[in-house]
Amino acid sequence: MKSTIARRMQGFSPFYVMELLQRAKQLEAEGRSIIHMEIGEPDFETPKPIIEKALKYIQAADVKYTGAAGLIELREKIADFYQQQYNVKLSPQRVFITPGASGAFLLALGVSLNPGEEILMTDPCYPCNDNFVRLLGGQSKFIDVDASTDFHLSGPLITQNWQENTRGVLIASPSNPTGTVISAVALEAVIQQVNKQGGCFYSDEIYHGLVYGKKAYSALQFSDEVFVINSFSKYFSMTGWRVGWLVVPEQFCDAVERLAQNIFISTPTHSQYAALAAFNAENLVELEQRKSEFEKRRDFLYTHLLRLGFDIEVKPEGAFYIYANCSRFTDDSFKFAKELLEQQGVAVTPGKDFGKNNENHYIRFAYTAPIAKMSVAIERLENFLCR
Ligand SMILES: Cc1ncc(COP(=O)(O)O)c(C=O)c1O
Repeated sequence: MKSTIARRMQGFSPFYVMELLQRAKQLEAEGRSIIHMEIGEPDFETPKPIIEKALKYIQAADVKYTGAAGLIELREKIADFYQQQYNVKLSPQRVFITPGASGAFLLALGVSLNPGEEILMTDPCYPCNDNFVRLLGGQSKFIDVDASTDFHLSGPLITQNWQENTRGVLIASPSNPTGTVISAVALEAVIQQVNKQGGCFYSDEIYHGLVYGKKAYSALQFSDEVFVINSFSKYFSMTGWRVGWLVVPEQFCDAVERLAQNIFISTPTHSQYAALAAFNAENLVELEQRKSEFEKRRDFLYTHLLRLGFDIEVKPEGAFYIYANCSRFTDDSFKFAKELLEQQGVAVTPGKDFGKNNENHYIRFAYTAPIAKMSVAIERLENFLCR
Protein backbone atom coordinates (compact mmCIF):
# COMPACT_ATOMS: atom_id res chain seq x y z
CA MET A 1 0.00 0.00 0.00
CA LYS A 2 1.28 3.46 -0.84
CA SER A 3 1.27 5.11 2.54
CA THR A 4 0.99 8.74 1.49
CA ILE A 5 -1.55 10.72 3.45
CA ALA A 6 -4.08 12.70 1.43
CA ARG A 7 -2.91 16.21 0.52
CA ARG A 8 -5.92 17.79 2.19
CA MET A 9 -4.58 16.69 5.56
CA GLN A 10 -1.65 19.08 5.25
CA GLY A 11 -3.95 21.94 6.14
CA PHE A 12 -5.45 20.23 9.19
CA SER A 13 -3.60 21.54 12.19
CA PRO A 14 -3.94 19.81 15.56
CA PHE A 15 -5.40 21.67 18.53
CA TYR A 16 -2.44 23.26 20.30
CA VAL A 17 -4.39 22.90 23.52
CA MET A 18 -4.07 19.11 23.21
CA GLU A 19 -0.34 19.45 23.80
CA LEU A 20 -1.16 21.33 27.01
CA LEU A 21 -3.85 18.84 27.97
CA GLN A 22 -1.47 15.91 27.56
CA ARG A 23 1.15 17.64 29.65
CA ALA A 24 -1.49 18.52 32.27
CA LYS A 25 -2.50 14.86 32.48
CA GLN A 26 1.14 13.83 32.83
CA LEU A 27 1.66 16.33 35.65
CA GLU A 28 -1.51 15.09 37.35
CA ALA A 29 -0.27 11.51 37.10
CA GLU A 30 2.88 12.69 38.88
CA GLY A 31 0.70 14.03 41.70
CA ARG A 32 0.56 17.74 40.79
CA SER A 33 -2.69 19.65 41.30
CA ILE A 34 -3.93 21.03 37.99
CA ILE A 35 -6.85 23.42 37.49
CA HIS A 36 -8.45 22.86 34.11
CA MET A 37 -9.65 26.02 32.42
CA GLU A 38 -8.72 24.89 28.92
CA ILE A 39 -11.49 22.47 27.99
CA GLY A 40 -14.63 23.54 26.16
CA GLU A 41 -17.13 21.30 27.90
CA PRO A 42 -19.32 21.82 30.94
CA ASP A 43 -18.03 20.29 34.17
CA PHE A 44 -21.65 19.49 35.09
CA GLU A 45 -22.81 15.93 34.65
CA THR A 46 -25.52 14.97 32.20
CA PRO A 47 -28.82 15.63 34.06
CA LYS A 48 -30.39 12.59 35.72
CA PRO A 49 -33.69 12.58 33.76
CA ILE A 50 -31.68 12.30 30.54
CA ILE A 51 -29.59 9.41 31.83
CA GLU A 52 -32.67 7.64 33.19
CA LYS A 53 -34.47 7.98 29.87
CA ALA A 54 -31.48 6.44 28.06
CA LEU A 55 -31.14 3.57 30.54
CA LYS A 56 -34.83 2.77 30.32
CA TYR A 57 -34.61 2.66 26.55
CA ILE A 58 -31.47 0.51 26.47
CA GLN A 59 -32.96 -1.96 28.96
CA ALA A 60 -36.29 -2.25 27.15
CA ALA A 61 -35.24 -2.31 23.52
CA ASP A 62 -32.61 -3.43 21.15
CA VAL A 63 -30.55 -0.42 20.10
CA LYS A 64 -31.07 -0.26 16.34
CA TYR A 65 -30.69 2.50 13.76
CA THR A 66 -33.33 5.19 13.46
CA GLY A 67 -34.20 6.85 10.16
CA ALA A 68 -31.44 9.19 9.00
CA ALA A 69 -33.41 12.33 9.88
CA GLY A 70 -33.80 11.14 13.46
CA LEU A 71 -36.68 10.29 15.80
CA ILE A 72 -39.77 12.19 14.80
CA GLU A 73 -40.71 12.74 18.50
CA LEU A 74 -37.38 14.50 19.04
CA ARG A 75 -37.71 16.56 15.87
CA GLU A 76 -41.17 17.64 17.05
CA LYS A 77 -39.88 18.57 20.49
CA ILE A 78 -37.15 20.69 18.93
CA ALA A 79 -39.67 22.41 16.64
CA ASP A 80 -41.85 23.17 19.73
CA PHE A 81 -38.79 24.52 21.52
CA TYR A 82 -38.35 27.10 18.71
CA GLN A 83 -41.96 28.17 19.18
CA GLN A 84 -41.49 28.63 22.95
CA GLN A 85 -38.03 30.18 22.89
CA TYR A 86 -38.16 32.36 19.81
CA ASN A 87 -41.78 32.45 18.75
CA VAL A 88 -40.77 30.80 15.48
CA LYS A 89 -43.09 28.34 13.79
CA LEU A 90 -41.00 25.52 12.43
CA SER A 91 -41.99 22.35 10.62
CA PRO A 92 -40.34 19.28 12.24
CA GLN A 93 -39.59 18.14 8.68
CA ARG A 94 -36.93 20.85 8.54
CA VAL A 95 -35.22 19.57 11.70
CA PHE A 96 -32.56 16.84 11.35
CA ILE A 97 -31.01 15.05 14.31
CA THR A 98 -27.24 14.82 13.93
CA PRO A 99 -24.16 13.46 15.70
CA GLY A 100 -23.54 16.74 17.54
CA ALA A 101 -23.15 20.17 16.01
CA SER A 102 -20.15 18.67 14.22
CA GLY A 103 -22.44 16.31 12.27
CA ALA A 104 -24.79 19.21 11.58
CA PHE A 105 -21.94 21.23 10.07
CA LEU A 106 -20.93 18.38 7.77
CA LEU A 107 -24.49 18.02 6.51
CA ALA A 108 -25.12 21.74 6.07
CA LEU A 109 -21.89 22.37 4.21
CA GLY A 110 -22.06 19.02 2.42
CA VAL A 111 -25.35 19.87 0.71
CA SER A 112 -24.54 23.49 -0.09
CA LEU A 113 -20.83 24.06 -0.69
CA ASN A 114 -19.12 23.28 -4.01
CA PRO A 115 -15.38 22.62 -4.27
CA GLY A 116 -13.48 25.87 -4.77
CA GLU A 117 -16.15 27.99 -3.12
CA GLU A 118 -15.46 30.18 -0.16
CA ILE A 119 -17.09 30.59 3.24
CA LEU A 120 -16.63 33.81 5.18
CA MET A 121 -16.01 33.48 8.90
CA THR A 122 -14.46 35.44 11.73
CA ASP A 123 -10.92 35.25 12.99
CA PRO A 124 -10.86 34.29 15.86
CA CYS A 125 -13.32 31.43 15.59
CA TYR A 126 -13.94 27.78 16.47
CA PRO A 127 -11.07 25.97 14.69
CA CYS A 128 -13.05 23.03 13.24
CA ASN A 129 -15.12 25.30 10.98
CA ASP A 130 -12.24 25.78 8.59
CA ASN A 131 -11.52 22.05 8.55
CA PHE A 132 -15.12 21.15 7.64
CA VAL A 133 -14.87 23.56 4.72
CA ARG A 134 -11.49 22.15 3.67
CA LEU A 135 -12.72 18.57 3.84
CA LEU A 136 -15.40 19.45 1.31
CA GLY A 137 -12.89 21.12 -1.03
CA GLY A 138 -13.88 24.67 -0.15
CA GLN A 139 -11.87 27.51 1.32
CA SER A 140 -12.38 29.62 4.38
CA LYS A 141 -11.95 33.34 4.14
CA PHE A 142 -11.12 34.64 7.57
CA ILE A 143 -12.18 38.16 8.43
CA ASP A 144 -10.28 39.74 11.30
CA VAL A 145 -12.73 41.01 13.89
CA ASP A 146 -12.22 43.01 17.05
CA ALA A 147 -14.08 44.81 19.80
CA SER A 148 -15.56 47.36 17.36
CA THR A 149 -18.04 44.68 16.17
CA ASP A 150 -18.08 42.62 19.40
CA PHE A 151 -15.79 40.14 17.59
CA HIS A 152 -18.59 39.36 15.11
CA LEU A 153 -19.26 39.99 11.43
CA SER A 154 -21.37 42.91 10.28
CA GLY A 155 -23.31 43.85 7.12
CA PRO A 156 -20.47 46.11 5.84
CA LEU A 157 -17.84 43.40 6.48
CA ILE A 158 -19.88 40.99 4.35
CA THR A 159 -20.14 43.51 1.50
CA GLN A 160 -16.42 44.28 1.63
CA ASN A 161 -15.36 40.63 1.60
CA TRP A 162 -17.89 39.04 -0.77
CA GLN A 163 -16.26 37.73 -3.96
CA GLU A 164 -17.37 35.84 -7.03
CA ASN A 165 -16.65 32.44 -5.47
CA THR A 166 -18.12 33.26 -2.06
CA ARG A 167 -20.79 30.74 -1.20
CA GLY A 168 -21.82 31.82 2.24
CA VAL A 169 -21.20 33.14 5.71
CA LEU A 170 -20.81 31.25 8.97
CA ILE A 171 -21.28 32.85 12.34
CA ALA A 172 -21.30 31.43 15.86
CA SER A 173 -23.02 33.50 18.52
CA PRO A 174 -22.26 33.37 21.42
CA SER A 175 -18.79 32.97 20.02
CA ASN A 176 -16.16 30.45 20.89
CA PRO A 177 -13.58 31.78 21.94
CA THR A 178 -14.85 35.29 22.82
CA GLY A 179 -18.23 34.53 24.44
CA THR A 180 -19.62 37.65 22.77
CA VAL A 181 -23.14 37.76 21.35
CA ILE A 182 -23.97 39.34 18.00
CA SER A 183 -26.57 42.12 18.26
CA ALA A 184 -29.98 41.52 16.69
CA VAL A 185 -29.36 44.45 14.33
CA ALA A 186 -26.01 43.06 13.14
CA LEU A 187 -27.42 39.54 12.77
CA GLU A 188 -30.32 40.76 10.66
CA ALA A 189 -28.02 42.93 8.54
CA VAL A 190 -25.66 40.01 7.86
CA ILE A 191 -28.53 37.67 6.93
CA GLN A 192 -30.06 40.29 4.63
CA GLN A 193 -26.73 40.90 2.97
CA VAL A 194 -26.17 37.17 2.41
CA ASN A 195 -29.69 36.71 1.05
CA LYS A 196 -29.16 39.68 -1.27
CA GLN A 197 -26.01 38.01 -2.62
CA GLY A 198 -27.90 34.73 -3.06
CA GLY A 199 -25.56 32.96 -0.62
CA CYS A 200 -26.04 30.56 2.28
CA PHE A 201 -26.08 31.60 5.91
CA TYR A 202 -24.93 29.13 8.56
CA SER A 203 -25.72 30.04 12.16
CA ASP A 204 -23.98 28.05 14.87
CA GLU A 205 -26.27 28.49 17.89
CA ILE A 206 -24.69 25.81 20.08
CA TYR A 207 -24.20 28.22 23.01
CA HIS A 208 -27.67 29.74 22.81
CA GLY A 209 -28.91 28.31 26.11
CA LEU A 210 -25.99 30.00 27.85
CA VAL A 211 -26.59 33.72 27.39
CA TYR A 212 -26.55 35.92 30.48
CA GLY A 213 -28.83 38.83 31.21
CA LYS A 214 -30.22 39.07 27.69
CA LYS A 215 -31.81 36.95 24.99
CA ALA A 216 -30.01 35.55 22.00
CA TYR A 217 -31.80 35.86 18.66
CA SER A 218 -31.97 32.84 16.42
CA ALA A 219 -31.25 33.38 12.73
CA LEU A 220 -34.65 31.74 12.16
CA GLN A 221 -36.30 34.86 13.61
CA PHE A 222 -35.08 36.78 10.58
CA SER A 223 -35.30 34.27 7.74
CA ASP A 224 -36.36 30.75 6.79
CA GLU A 225 -33.51 30.63 4.29
CA VAL A 226 -30.78 29.78 6.82
CA PHE A 227 -29.03 26.72 8.18
CA VAL A 228 -29.13 26.60 11.98
CA ILE A 229 -26.66 24.35 13.76
CA ASN A 230 -27.27 23.39 17.37
CA SER A 231 -26.51 20.64 19.83
CA PHE A 232 -27.27 19.01 23.15
CA SER A 233 -23.56 19.19 24.04
CA LYS A 234 -23.26 22.46 25.96
CA TYR A 235 -26.44 23.85 27.60
CA PHE A 236 -27.76 20.30 28.09
CA SER A 237 -24.35 18.94 29.26
CA MET A 238 -24.37 16.02 26.82
CA THR A 239 -21.02 16.33 25.04
CA GLY A 240 -20.21 12.62 24.98
CA TRP A 241 -23.65 11.53 23.78
CA ARG A 242 -23.01 12.98 20.33
CA VAL A 243 -26.41 14.37 19.57
CA GLY A 244 -27.31 17.69 18.00
CA TRP A 245 -29.56 19.08 15.32
CA LEU A 246 -29.68 21.02 12.09
CA VAL A 247 -32.53 23.18 10.80
CA VAL A 248 -32.47 23.55 7.02
CA PRO A 249 -34.28 25.62 4.40
CA GLU A 250 -37.17 23.62 2.93
CA GLN A 251 -35.52 23.05 -0.45
CA PHE A 252 -32.51 21.31 1.15
CA CYS A 253 -34.50 18.71 3.14
CA ASP A 254 -34.26 15.94 0.58
CA ALA A 255 -30.52 16.42 -0.02
CA VAL A 256 -29.79 16.54 3.72
CA GLU A 257 -31.67 13.30 4.27
CA ARG A 258 -29.77 11.56 1.47
CA LEU A 259 -26.41 12.79 2.75
CA ALA A 260 -27.25 11.82 6.34
CA GLN A 261 -28.27 8.32 5.18
CA ASN A 262 -24.92 7.90 3.50
CA ILE A 263 -22.48 9.37 5.98
CA PHE A 264 -24.08 8.61 9.37
CA ILE A 265 -26.97 6.17 8.71
CA SER A 266 -28.33 7.53 11.99
CA THR A 267 -27.38 9.45 15.12
CA PRO A 268 -26.84 7.08 18.11
CA THR A 269 -30.35 5.87 18.93
CA HIS A 270 -29.98 5.73 22.72
CA SER A 271 -28.68 9.31 22.67
CA GLN A 272 -31.73 10.43 20.72
CA TYR A 273 -34.04 8.76 23.26
CA ALA A 274 -32.03 10.34 26.07
CA ALA A 275 -32.42 13.76 24.45
CA LEU A 276 -36.22 13.36 24.52
CA ALA A 277 -35.98 14.09 28.25
CA ALA A 278 -33.87 17.21 27.71
CA PHE A 279 -36.82 19.55 27.26
CA ASN A 280 -38.81 18.30 30.29
CA ALA A 281 -39.87 21.14 32.57
CA GLU A 282 -38.08 19.57 35.55
CA ASN A 283 -34.88 19.26 33.55
CA LEU A 284 -35.07 22.82 32.23
CA VAL A 285 -35.30 24.12 35.82
CA GLU A 286 -32.05 22.30 36.63
CA LEU A 287 -30.39 23.63 33.47
CA GLU A 288 -31.41 27.20 34.27
CA GLN A 289 -29.77 26.82 37.71
CA ARG A 290 -26.60 25.66 36.02
CA LYS A 291 -26.80 28.65 33.73
CA SER A 292 -26.99 31.01 36.78
CA GLU A 293 -23.92 29.27 38.16
CA PHE A 294 -22.08 29.88 34.89
CA GLU A 295 -23.09 33.55 35.05
CA LYS A 296 -21.66 33.86 38.58
CA ARG A 297 -18.46 32.22 37.41
CA ARG A 298 -18.27 34.59 34.44
CA ASP A 299 -18.59 37.59 36.78
CA PHE A 300 -16.00 36.20 39.18
CA LEU A 301 -13.43 35.45 36.50
CA TYR A 302 -14.06 38.67 34.58
CA THR A 303 -13.54 40.81 37.70
CA HIS A 304 -10.35 39.04 38.74
CA LEU A 305 -8.75 38.89 35.30
CA LEU A 306 -9.27 42.64 34.93
CA ARG A 307 -7.82 43.19 38.40
CA LEU A 308 -4.72 41.20 37.43
CA GLY A 309 -4.18 43.39 34.38
CA PHE A 310 -5.67 41.33 31.53
CA ASP A 311 -7.57 43.36 29.00
CA ILE A 312 -11.05 42.04 28.15
CA GLU A 313 -12.18 44.25 25.32
CA VAL A 314 -15.83 43.18 25.29
CA LYS A 315 -17.53 41.70 28.34
CA PRO A 316 -18.64 38.23 27.24
CA GLU A 317 -22.38 37.66 27.48
CA GLY A 318 -22.55 33.95 26.72
CA ALA A 319 -20.93 30.51 26.43
CA PHE A 320 -18.34 29.78 29.14
CA TYR A 321 -15.27 31.54 27.81
CA ILE A 322 -13.32 34.72 28.38
CA TYR A 323 -10.89 35.69 25.63
CA ALA A 324 -8.41 37.82 27.50
CA ASN A 325 -5.74 40.01 25.96
CA CYS A 326 -2.47 39.20 27.70
CA SER A 327 -0.19 41.54 25.71
CA ARG A 328 0.72 43.37 28.92
CA PHE A 329 2.51 40.20 30.01
CA THR A 330 3.69 38.44 26.85
CA ASP A 331 4.07 38.47 23.08
CA ASP A 332 3.73 34.69 22.98
CA SER A 333 0.54 33.44 24.59
CA PHE A 334 1.36 29.77 23.80
CA LYS A 335 4.64 30.04 25.73
CA PHE A 336 2.75 31.89 28.48
CA ALA A 337 0.19 29.05 28.67
CA LYS A 338 2.92 26.38 28.78
CA GLU A 339 4.83 28.19 31.54
CA LEU A 340 1.63 28.83 33.51
CA LEU A 341 0.92 25.11 33.42
CA GLU A 342 4.45 24.04 34.37
CA GLN A 343 4.96 26.60 37.12
CA GLN A 344 1.49 26.96 38.62
CA GLY A 345 -0.62 24.06 37.36
CA VAL A 346 -3.27 26.18 35.62
CA ALA A 347 -4.28 24.99 32.13
CA VAL A 348 -5.65 27.52 29.60
CA THR A 349 -5.96 27.63 25.80
CA PRO A 350 -3.65 29.82 23.69
CA GLY A 351 -5.10 32.20 21.09
CA LYS A 352 -3.21 30.23 18.43
CA ASP A 353 -5.99 27.63 18.47
CA PHE A 354 -8.53 30.15 17.15
CA GLY A 355 -6.78 31.78 14.23
CA LYS A 356 -4.08 34.20 13.21
CA ASN A 357 -5.58 37.51 14.27
CA ASN A 358 -3.22 38.85 16.92
CA GLU A 359 -3.37 35.31 18.33
CA ASN A 360 -0.16 35.59 20.33
CA HIS A 361 -1.79 38.22 22.52
CA TYR A 362 -4.78 36.17 23.64
CA ILE A 363 -5.60 33.39 26.08
CA ARG A 364 -8.99 31.67 26.34
CA PHE A 365 -10.11 30.92 29.87
CA ALA A 366 -12.99 28.42 30.17
CA TYR A 367 -15.01 28.84 33.37
CA THR A 368 -15.87 25.17 33.45
CA ALA A 369 -14.59 24.85 37.02
CA PRO A 370 -16.39 25.83 40.24
CA ILE A 371 -15.61 29.24 41.79
CA ALA A 372 -13.70 27.62 44.67
CA LYS A 373 -11.28 26.08 42.17
CA MET A 374 -11.12 29.19 40.05
CA SER A 375 -10.15 31.30 43.07
CA VAL A 376 -7.15 29.01 43.57
CA ALA A 377 -6.40 29.43 39.85
CA ILE A 378 -6.52 33.21 40.28
CA GLU A 379 -4.09 33.06 43.23
CA ARG A 380 -1.74 30.92 41.18
CA LEU A 381 -2.06 33.25 38.21
CA GLU A 382 -1.20 36.18 40.48
CA ASN A 383 1.93 34.35 41.70
CA PHE A 384 2.84 33.59 38.11
CA LEU A 385 2.51 37.22 37.03
CA CYS A 386 4.60 38.41 40.02
CA ARG A 387 7.42 35.95 39.32
C1 LIG B 1 -18.71 26.92 18.46
C2 LIG B 1 -18.80 25.42 18.46
N1 LIG B 1 -19.49 24.81 17.48
C3 LIG B 1 -19.58 23.47 17.41
C4 LIG B 1 -18.96 22.66 18.36
C5 LIG B 1 -19.10 21.15 18.24
O1 LIG B 1 -19.96 20.67 19.19
P1 LIG B 1 -20.58 19.19 19.24
O2 LIG B 1 -20.06 18.56 20.51
O3 LIG B 1 -22.06 19.38 19.34
O4 LIG B 1 -20.19 18.48 18.02
C6 LIG B 1 -18.24 23.25 19.41
C7 LIG B 1 -17.56 22.42 20.42
O5 LIG B 1 -16.79 22.90 21.23
C8 LIG B 1 -18.16 24.67 19.46
O6 LIG B 1 -17.49 25.31 20.43
